[in-house]
Amino acid sequence: MPRCALDRVAEGIRDVLEIRIDQTAALVDMNSLLSSRAGWVINGCYLVTLAAPVASLFSIRLVRRKEYAAHRRLQTILACVGVVAVLALETRIRLAGGSGALLRGSPHAGSEMFRVIAAVHIAVAVCTYAAWVWLLFASRRAFGKTLPGPFSRLHKRVGWGVISGLAFTAGSASVVYYLAFVA
Ligand code: HEM
Repeated sequence: MPRCALDRVAEGIRDVLEIRIDQTAALVDMNSLLSSRAGWVINGCYLVTLAAPVASLFSIRLVRRKEYAAHRRLQTILACVGVVAVLALETRIRLAGGSGALLRGSPHAGSEMFRVIAAVHIAVAVCTYAAWVWLLFASRRAFGKTLPGPFSRLHKRVGWGVISGLAFTAGSASVVYYLAFVA
């Protein structure tokens, strides 16, 4: 093979190898982004937190199709799974010896910024879950009597409030999770 043709082949191989090396570096970056210090209980609770607003929006689609019984069933399951996840998270924190012990690996633990973000996240999450559980019991009682009916207005208002709270909780949980277990 003439010399310049050999050079071109070598250049081509070098280009391909460089692309491979770039891709591998990107994958390694991705892995370090996804690897976290949280255990499976916290990861499970985080996944439930992310799924709750999405699944709640799906339950609204059921309302629009007038499938009220399915909407009731899905909301009941979601709220129960949510409460169990929060109880599991709380138990995990206590077993670790408190949130301070669990956050030991984070460079943000104890910082003012982290404390404010975590406090806002917890306050909204607690109010949202309290409203969710209240709405669940009140709506199950009212179903077939005043819902649909006079209770519908309050149900819709509180319902959209809960879904907004679940969305905020998922967003703020993502920030807390990142600062506590990834950064
Ligand atoms: C488990 C008991 C529940 C029952 C029996 C129930 C039943 C209903 C019914 C019958 C409607 C239609 C009301 C009407 O158009 O007059 C409705 C709408 C709605 N529900 Fe529920 N629901 C329950 C739980 C929940 C929960 C816990 C939430 C909050 C996450 C929620 C959020 C909503 C929302 C936002 C709407 C209004 C949808 C729209 O804007 O059209 N529901 N529900």
